[in-house]
Amino acid sequence: MQLEENIPLAPLTTLHVGGAAKYLAKIASREDLVAAVNFAHGEELPVFVLGGGSNVLVRDAGFPGLVLQMAMTEPASVFEESEDFVRCRVAAGVDWDAFVLDVCERGLAGVECLAGIPGLMGGCPVQNIGAYGQEVAETIYSVTALDVEAMRFVTLSAAECGFAYRQSIFNTSARGRYIVVEVTFLFETARVVELKYAELKEHFAGKQPTPMEVYYAVRRIRHGKGMLLVAGEADCLSAGSFFKNPVVSSLEFQRLSSGFKEVPHWPAADGKVKLAAAWLVEQAGFEKGFAMGQAGISSRHTLAVINRGGASSGEILALRDAIVGRVRERFGIVLEQEPVMLA
Ligand code: EPU
Repeated sequence: MQLEENIPLAPLTTLHVGGAAKYLAKIASREDLVAAVNFAHGEELPVFVLGGGSNVLVRDAGFPGLVLQMAMTEPASVFEESEDFVRCRVAAGVDWDAFVLDVCERGLAGVECLAGIPGLMGGCPVQNIGAYGQEVAETIYSVTALDVEAMRFVTLSAAECGFAYRQSIFNTSARGRYIVVEVTFLFETARVVELKYAELKEHFAGKQPTPMEVYYAVRRIRHGKGMLLVAGEADCLSAGSFFKNPVVSSLEFQRLSSGFKEVPHWPAADGKVKLAAAWLVEQAGFEKGFAMGQAGISSRHTLAVINRGGASSGEILALRDAIVGRVRERFGIVLEQEPVMLA
């Protein structure tokens, strides 16, 4: 295991802000992982697992512990076929979009709407990534992780992972306990693409698309919204959606819609209502392209807070606080930050 000291974290994240890690270890194998976690335990250091850095906000003061940079890329994608199912094992350090492409090229449906999401495999079950009508929870069969309390590798079934909107046990009840090393997916060979998102339905206008066709359509839509991170393009120093879409009770929704016309909303679990955080942010006075110092809002999607170039983490946090404050004043709703805070 290679251990480095005082490593700047900004270049390892898509927002490009924040300070250095006290220690950083590249994790290329399960042995590396065990050695690194033992080191952290011995030194009583906090541990943070960094994948693609696409959903992380690092503070300017940096991180006073050990960052594990996930670099486990074996198995890259092992497909095991039976008559009705295809199972696929993928290591935590494999690029998410490369995996999606691989699955779509085999004609398998189930993750095609998740094309173009930046980041690595290990992060996908943690926040149950979702987009364009699909969530990774639909196809995950199990997750293998190091249990850092028992210091042994365990395999959790999808049910044990407790998936919900942008949520799993890994970022709630068991936060910090498991480090994902491998994810197993199960695809039904007979499954065909099912489109739920309006823009995609319109795009294919009643035709039955292949997973590959959806893969490219989703990437195009994401690109138009600045949600495809293309190095060097404007709006691309971002961590994707900066806030979760708030889920409120139907009573709360009624209260809101009596005061405001045409509040965008969707049905959520348990009779609740999901609101569009982007709409709330816009209505609170933050338009696309809004700037506050070097922090700003993407010119293509109101939900993406961006680094306009050379921003500090403090500037991003100041804009976050301004948005949260104004949305609370105007709507009585408290927005929840989506990117994980590294601190
Ligand atoms: N809207 C605006 N202004 C905008 C964009 C959107 O008012 O600039 C409103 C509209 O009413 C629109 C609604 O927000 O109908 C929803 O917008 P969109 O379909 O673009 O999706 P989103 O709810 O803003 C979520 C995910 C994205 C995912 C898209 C597509 C969250 C927090 N975000 O965004 O995920 O790509 O749906 O399914 O759930 C991410 O998590 O980083 C991410 C990019």
